[in-house]
Amino acid sequence: MTIRSRISGIGKYVPERVLTNFDLEKLVNTSDTWIQERTGVRERHIAADDETASSMGILAAQQALAQAEVSPDDLDLIIAATTSPDGMFPAIASRIQDGLGANHAGAFDINAACVGFLSALATASQFIATGTYQRILVIGSEVLSRIIDWNDRNTCVLFGDGAGAVVLEAAEQGGPLSFVLHSDGSGASSLYAHGPCSAPNGLEADGYFISMDGRRIFKFAVQAMESAIREAIDKAGLDLSDVDLMIPHQANLRIIKATAKALGLPPERAMINVDRYGNTSSASIPMALREAWEQDRLHEGDRLAMVTFGGGLVWGAMIFEWSAVGPVRPKAAPVHATTASGS
Ligand code: UT7
Repeated sequence: MTIRSRISGIGKYVPERVLTNFDLEKLVNTSDTWIQERTGVRERHIAADDETASSMGILAAQQALAQAEVSPDDLDLIIAATTSPDGMFPAIASRIQDGLGANHAGAFDINAACVGFLSALATASQFIATGTYQRILVIGSEVLSRIIDWNDRNTCVLFGDGAGAVVLEAAEQGGPLSFVLHSDGSGASSLYAHGPCSAPNGLEADGYFISMDGRRIFKFAVQAMESAIREAIDKAGLDLSDVDLMIPHQANLRIIKATAKALGLPPERAMINVDRYGNTSSASIPMALREAWEQDRLHEGDRLAMVTFGGGLVWGAMIFEWSAVGPVRPKAAPVHATTASGS
C-alpha cells in the first residue's frame, strides 16, 4: 500500500520593496491601465540587493516549519525549485539546508521553470509514498528581477520576486490523488533565459534576460492548463465538479480566467493573487496556497487542482486532497470509561 502525504505547514515570503505599475510607467513605455487590463497585475515585490533565492527560501521555509511544528533537524530531504538560483551550484536547497540547520536532510534543486514547484512536490510525494522518507521540505523561490531586462516592456511588467514553501509529511489521509507532468522542448525558443550557463550562446548578453513570445505562450498556456487538469482529474477517477479550488500558476489573470471558463469552473473557484505579486514562477503556487489558507479557503477533504505551465515548454497538474495543516499527531488513544470506585 502506498503511503499518503499531507501538507502540514505552508510558508511564504515576499521582499519588502513594492514596485507598482505607476513605477513601471517611469521605466518603460507602458501604463497602469494596459498592464491591469492585459495581465491583472497591479504591483510586484522586488528583492533587496542582499536577498537571494536561498535567503528568501529560508524565510518561507521557517514559516512552514513553524506551522507544521517540525524541527529542521527532523527533515529528511529538501527539494527547492528555482529558475533564478544564487549561482550555477551549489543548489539553493543546500544553502537553505545550512541556513535552517537541517542537519540530517539531503538537498537538491529542480529547474522546470514555472512547473518547478509542482515537479518538486510530485517528486517529494513519491519519496513518501515508497516509505523512503517521512518529512520533506519543498520550496519555490525566485529573484526574477535579476534576470529581467528592465528596458523590455514585453516582460518587465509581468514578473516579481518571492518564495513559498511547504512541509510534506507521511500521513494517513490527504495528499496527491494524481499528477501529470509534460514537456515539449521544441517550444524552448518561445520562453527562455540563456545565461549564465555552459551553452555558447548563453554567454551572449542578449540571451541573458528572460525572452518571451507572449502571444504564443498565452495560447499554449490556456490549452495546456485545461488539458492537464482534465487528465489529472481522469487519473484520480474524479469529475471536474469535484474540484473545490483551483490553485493555478499566477502568470496572468486572463489566462487563469480563460482556463476556468474552458473547464466550466466558476471563477470564484480559482485562487488569484497575481494582482499583488505578478508572476513569481516556481514560487507562485506555494505563495497562492499560503494565501488560500490565510483566507480560510482550504477545508478538510477539499480537492485542490494545482496547475501550471512555463518555459520548456512544460506543463502539469496535480489533484491534491487537503487535510488540515499543523502537526501530524498520532491517533488519540481510545477513551475508556473509568469504573467508579468507592461509594
Ligand atoms: O510563466 C509563464 C510566463 N509567461 C506568460 O505567462 C506570458 C503569456 N502571455 C501574456 O501574458 C500576454 O501575451 C502579454 C501580457 C505578454 C501580452 O498581452 P497581449 O494581449 O498578448 O498583448 P500583445 O502581445 O498582443 O500586444 C498588444 C499591444 C502591442 O502593440 P500593437 O502591436 O498592437 O501596437 C504591443 O506592442 O500591446 C503592446 N504592448 C504593450 N503596451 C503597453 C506590449 N507590452 C506592452 C506594455 N505596455 N507593457
